[in-house]
Amino acid sequence: MYKIGVLPGDGIGPEVVAQGLRVLEHLAAGHGFRYELIHLPYGSEHYLKTGELLPDEATADLRRLDAIYLGALGDPRIPPGVIERGVLLRLRFELDLYVNLRPIVLYAEHLCPVKDKRPEDVDLIVVRENTEDAYAGVGGFLKQGTRNEVAISEMIYTRDGVERVVRYAFDLARQRGKQRKVTLVDKANAIRAHDLWQRVFAEVGSEYPDITRDHAYVDAAAMWLIKNPEWFDVIVTTNIFGDILTDIGAIVQGGLGIAASGNIHPGRVSMFEPIHGSAPKYAGKNVANPLAAIAAVGMLLDYVGERPAADGLQRSVRRLLESKRIPSLGTDSGLTTSQIGDLVLTTIEEGR
Ligand code: IPM
Ligand code: MN
Repeated sequence: MYKIGVLPGDGIGPEVVAQGLRVLEHLAAGHGFRYELIHLPYGSEHYLKTGELLPDEATADLRRLDAIYLGALGDPRIPPGVIERGVLLRLRFELDLYVNLRPIVLYAEHLCPVKDKRPEDVDLIVVRENTEDAYAGVGGFLKQGTRNEVAISEMIYTRDGVERVVRYAFDLARQRGKQRKVTLVDKANAIRAHDLWQRVFAEVGSEYPDITRDHAYVDAAAMWLIKNPEWFDVIVTTNIFGDILTDIGAIVQGGLGIAASGNIHPGRVSMFEPIHGSAPKYAGKNVANPLAAIAAVGMLLDYVGERPAADGLQRSVRRLLESKRIPSLGTDSGLTTSQIGDLVLTTIEEGR
């Protein structure tokens, strides 16, 4: 019996999560596993009503779950960062979810905006460090609001923090058994602290003689992700670079409508979410594409150990997208959020 926390959050979050939960229910029946949902209210609406972001006792309770399924957070009525830092980043930090795992997979050729790229060319995974860097919140303001204002956000990297995520990437490359390659993406030619990443990468990598070590500076990596996505297998990178590169990756795989992610601490409660935001202007309109949220359910199932259900779902999403029954991955597909959910369920049924 899996205990799954559900945090639909803001904007289109609740709509896409509802479709993900339909798929979860369907897969549980088909594959014979059971789960209990624990509904979590946190997000903008809850904050506006109660002034509460994420109570201290919440993270303690969440630790006892097997996984958390999150929709999206962010609301234009609240200044930028309040909800993101107060809920999303806080969950990542307090649960120490040090890997942000973001697969970049092209399911069908016609979805790729890059000329002549086929599904076999776009099959990589980004391991984004998820607890440090400029996200750590070290810094502040001096003489705020004056001509002499100083604003500082430190890029923080710890030896342990770098080592564990780099090790995760090498293990993953081995487990994937594809190109058996890890590419470190950094900016060590300009940011001195990235020397730590280079040293740790070389040291840890030497324990994996079967895995090729590659390196790219982030600016070049941004270009190659578009021009030559086939060069990559596993990318390991810093929090901020991983954030940016995975939006590029998402568009190479067809758009934010399909890109899912896992915030992972191996062996502990981990959190799964689409990489897209709350898209407030589409909220409540039943037009958002739920495929990324559905793919996040697949990652969640894979994480808790329901491999056959996860693989089956991935195959169904691939077949559905290959069939071109969903003309585009954006809000212009002509299909509603729930119709896309229906199509996923039908495709799973057809594949049985
Ligand atoms: C993401 C998002 C978040 C991030 C924001 C909402 C803080 O862009 O999950 O990629 O920067 O990590
Ligand atoms: Mn992002």
